[in-house]
Amino acid sequence: MCGIVGAVAKRNIVSILVNGLLRLEYRGYDSAGLVVVHDAKLERVRSAGRVAELGQKSANTYGELGIAHTRWATHGVPSERNAHPHMSRDLIAVVHNGIIENYEELRTELTAQGYEFTSDTDTEVIAHLIHSHYAQGSLLIATQMALSQLVGAYAIGVVAADNPHQLIAARKGSPLLLGVGVGEHFVASDMSALLQVTKNVVYLEEGDVVEVNLANYRIFDQLGNSVQRQVHVSELDNDSVELGEYQHYMQKEIHEQPQALANTLESVCNSQSLVPGIFGAEANTIFPQVENILILACGTSNHSGQVAKYWLEEIAGIPCNVEIASEYRYRTSVPNPKTLVVTISQSGETADTLAALIHAKSTGHAFTLAICNVPESAIIRQSKLRLLTRAGPEIGVASTKAFTTQLAALFLLTLVMAKLRGRLDAEREQQFLHELRHLPAAVQKVLALEPKIAEMAKHFANKHHALFLGRGMHFPIAAEGALKLKEISYIHAEAYPAGELKHGPLALVDADMPVVSVAPNDTLLEKLKSNLQEVKARGGELFVFADAETHIKESEGVHILQMPEHAGFLSPILHTIPLQLLAYYVALEKGTDVDKPRNLAKSVTVE
Ligand code: M6R
Repeated sequence: MCGIVGAVAKRNIVSILVNGLLRLEYRGYDSAGLVVVHDAKLERVRSAGRVAELGQKSANTYGELGIAHTRWATHGVPSERNAHPHMSRDLIAVVHNGIIENYEELRTELTAQGYEFTSDTDTEVIAHLIHSHYAQGSLLIATQMALSQLVGAYAIGVVAADNPHQLIAARKGSPLLLGVGVGEHFVASDMSALLQVTKNVVYLEEGDVVEVNLANYRIFDQLGNSVQRQVHVSELDNDSVELGEYQHYMQKEIHEQPQALANTLESVCNSQSLVPGIFGAEANTIFPQVENILILACGTSNHSGQVAKYWLEEIAGIPCNVEIASEYRYRTSVPNPKTLVVTISQSGETADTLAALIHAKSTGHAFTLAICNVPESAIIRQSKLRLLTRAGPEIGVASTKAFTTQLAALFLLTLVMAKLRGRLDAEREQQFLHELRHLPAAVQKVLALEPKIAEMAKHFANKHHALFLGRGMHFPIAAEGALKLKEISYIHAEAYPAGELKHGPLALVDADMPVVSVAPNDTLLEKLKSNLQEVKARGGELFVFADAETHIKESEGVHILQMPEHAGFLSPILHTIPLQLLAYYVALEKGTDVDKPRNLAKSVTVE
């Protein structure tokens, strides 16, 4: 989604703005722009193309105060006139992430007051509103007054032509950070944009407005009270967001999975037994009261929840439901105060997941746990308990290492719950801990299959559709494989539990429909083999991801990829890797933009 960078300093900040936007490119965007204040004028540069183009266009621009933006179109087509910053009468400039729901009404009022609109965006009303209040002299007060008229979600940055050392920023429903430097300050929607200038960061809270000057800053909460917020030192380093030896972030992140898993499991693997405290101190009192689990998440994160349902019910014997967050938040459900509500999110800022969590709390759910990759994110802050996945920054839009680390975290939840419910004796606990310690090495072995998968991918390059099959806890893995393929290669892909095949989708099978099957050596293997026969008999071409002992023979139209080992309950984690690689290499074959697939954004911070 959209990205924001802002800076006030005693040096030219144009390259800081452009580099910051480059760091935010991964979020997805279709146009970019910046404005600087120079000689009491606003100098605006915009581009309907890439940030690199904006960099070229602004190469001779100078300013010590400015704001910049990457836009992901919501209101109005992607174009230069709709790109941010938006300005009001050459005095006020605004960048905005989020959606203003009452913008039509405001636009009518402002038009009646004589304001002229030059874009189709909802954002432009903010610029004019601030302008309409600015006569009173304070940019802070004018912004606060304008914000009080808005309905919707926003993170904004504001500058005025006659105010050369001050930037106002605010957030409600969209993330925004304040970067604290020495005699200079910055704002951004994401830490990765700030690493070039500072690691000291304030996570602005919901409803905060900040007045940022050269030497200091003041934060006001949603009631307008002046407040202090803690300055954190970010643990991210610039290298972790560099591409290094890899061609794409997605490829890099696939290969980072052994380390990401080791990091996520570190505290547990170094100890001899599992304790609820890894989810936060209050887990010791909350977990024993829990009667069932409700998992809320979107997209890939939802798939990890679906795998966890199998684990939680089979190993811990605890009932578990998994819901799509955007559905749950709008339906009438029957809350049970003894339910543990688990939200799963890489970014911790996904609007639907956050809203679902807030909705769950409003219906009386007090037991909330976040499994998330971003410390201090909104979802973490809204939850009583937390387990941070330690995947490191995930830049590719297609989620890879975030997914497998979520699975690892959910497996820990399963084991802790099983232990509390008397379903995990000491011997089994040690066995599982042993398997978890081995997991990074097992994933490393699967990664060694990369050249074979790259070959396999060639069969998909000219196909338009694909079916993915799995059974039991591997059905969500098939669904994840289909999602990966469709989002980065644009091949239409659907997943089915293999037993469903003859209830409809078998009609689609012919030589043009590759069928990918996740075939681990588990209790459902024989049934899966029969399903595969059904495909073969209809002339379908099969791509089977099998374990060492699966014993499915390669033949005409049947391509087998043998996995190095079978990992029991952890098998879904291992079986994810080849499907990620398959999608990656098919996308390479097709020449699509792997890290920034069309129409998609990394953090979906609007509904
Ligand atoms: O940040 P989140 O995990 O909450 O994001 C949820 C989905 O938007 C995300 O998993 C999406 O489906 C992935 N980009 C797919 O690869």
